[in-house]
Amino acid sequence: MTGRKKVTVVGAGNVGATCALEVARRDYADVVLVDIVPNLAAGKALDMNQMASVTGYEPTIVGTDGYAETKGSDVVVITAGRPRSPGMSRDDLVTTNEAIVGAVAKEVARRSPKSVIVVVSNPLDAMCHVAHAVSGFPKERVVGMAGILDTARFRAFIAWETGSSARDVQAMVLGGHGDQMVPVVSATTVGGVPLTQLAPRGRISKMVARTRKGGGELVSLLGTSAWYAPGAAAAEMVDAICLDQKRVLPCTALLEGEYAIDGLYLGVPVRLGAGGVEEIVSLKLTTDEKKMLRASAAAVRDVVGVLSTPS
Ligand code: LAC
Repeated sequence: MTGRKKVTVVGAGNVGATCALEVARRDYADVVLVDIVPNLAAGKALDMNQMASVTGYEPTIVGTDGYAETKGSDVVVITAGRPRSPGMSRDDLVTTNEAIVGAVAKEVARRSPKSVIVVVSNPLDAMCHVAHAVSGFPKERVVGMAGILDTARFRAFIAWETGSSARDVQAMVLGGHGDQMVPVVSATTVGGVPLTQLAPRGRISKMVARTRKGGGELVSLLGTSAWYAPGAAAAEMVDAICLDQKRVLPCTALLEGEYAIDGLYLGVPVRLGAGGVEEIVSLKLTTDEKKMLRASAAAVRDVVGVLSTPS
């Protein structure tokens, strides 16, 4: 037995591999990378283990095309599924990825019944419903990664606009992981100074619009979905859970009345620790922001309505 945490990442594509590498480099967890494509996870794991000799972390990444090795994981990150191609919205993937995420959730829940599942596959909010229903886990232990990524994009744009370090930009992007997501300008500061004092309204609107289309901008450049920021964002959630950090981060959580939304996975600020979503943090929104959050929730509900997994 080792005292290290165990983290499984399902899907050894670009996002999964980036997440696995980020977690491995933190050096507190053994990582199991799973992919149904024969040899893909084994090959990437071998490469990462050899990289450890150069960069200096304990090489404990296992790559496999089965689930036996995942047994007893503390956290399972699900990145499996088709990524977007140019011209595709995240929602276009719903039926294909529902089957994949459902099958994965079943396998991992059985072998790691105490784990926290972090869903990354798109369409994200709907895939959280699938993982929650199929795993049978309590809502606290099924959480989605989108808000950290969307917020990272917003923070980058604000840093460039204001000539600041992105580290000093505090922001929250809430709502669904789609074009109607809600960058909460009223809660955005740079070093404590409200963004509204640092940039004219028109510039802020442009950054909000670019954030909303942030994933699509990457798809049109790359021909597929982004991976560095998404993988790192998922790893930040793994840290918060494994190290019981109690971080307040924008994550996709099941709302049951919070923010006046019921029975829907949506991006909100949560306190993330060893128990998963330990609290849904309530953030005071302006009337306009509340309206935008409701519109984003309605768009997510439409996609969830297409699912055939009973919830
Ligand atoms: C993105 C995809 C991963 O936003 O949803 O880049």
